[in-house]
Amino acid sequence: MDTKNYQFAWNDKAFELVSCSIVRMRIDIISVMPDLLTSAFAHSIIKRAQEKGLLQIHLHALRDYAMNKYGQVDDTQFGGGAGMVLMCEPLARVIEKLKQERNYDAIIYLTPDGQTLKQPTVNRLSLQENLLMICGHYKGIDQRIRDVYVTLEISIGDYVLSGGELAAAVLTDSIGRLIPGVLNDETSALTDSHQDGLLAPPVYTRPADWKGYKVPDILLSGHFAKIEEWRYEEALRRTEERRPDLLKG
Ligand code: ADE
Repeated sequence: MDTKNYQFAWNDKAFELVSCSIVRMRIDIISVMPDLLTSAFAHSIIKRAQEKGLLQIHLHALRDYAMNKYGQVDDTQFGGGAGMVLMCEPLARVIEKLKQERNYDAIIYLTPDGQTLKQPTVNRLSLQENLLMICGHYKGIDQRIRDVYVTLEISIGDYVLSGGELAAAVLTDSIGRLIPGVLNDETSALTDSHQDGLLAPPVYTRPADWKGYKVPDILLSGHFAKIEEWRYEEALRRTEERRPDLLKG
């Protein structure tokens, strides 16, 4: 990957990357409802990542690759049963087109029967250059597309959404914020919940006394080593209380 053409400038108080002519990551998302995703990527950190040129997100409307002029992309399932299935042909058409243009590091299908998304997978994916995400709808996509093209199947939790779009938004957000250069303070992602296998400790801001509810003294002490120790103990306590499963092994 080209590492030239980065442009840094003073922005507020920090010397930060304001533009670069190379894109660190490109994410393509195939969906029957791409409009559902536009707002999710038009705000906050993911918006900034795109403005800085570090992330490109391309939405592909599956209906543009439909079977016929009626925009058909789904059909009933063989063997009977309720619910429609996204057909092979439209999906294969768009996937093949995109694959001809670049190599994908992963072709991800968002599905409730995929592996549950965890921080290590997010960390690993944030280092890739090209990701392709496929959003299912209705009963999902034809199994043959999964067999032939999909390299990773991800669920964002043990519940069923109406489609894969919100899951793709969650996955893109979690990956996008970790792309080097996206967060102002590179270290802040390292202190997120789950990054060290623990939940994050509690955080406080001004005022130090709010209606008699006080910030723990230690945080006002200015003693950095002791504050770090306190935070670690709080993180451990919170994890033991709320997610003891994380501490096993
Ligand atoms: N599509 C529908 N439900 C989903 C889930 N829980 N995770 C990922 N994709 C989905």
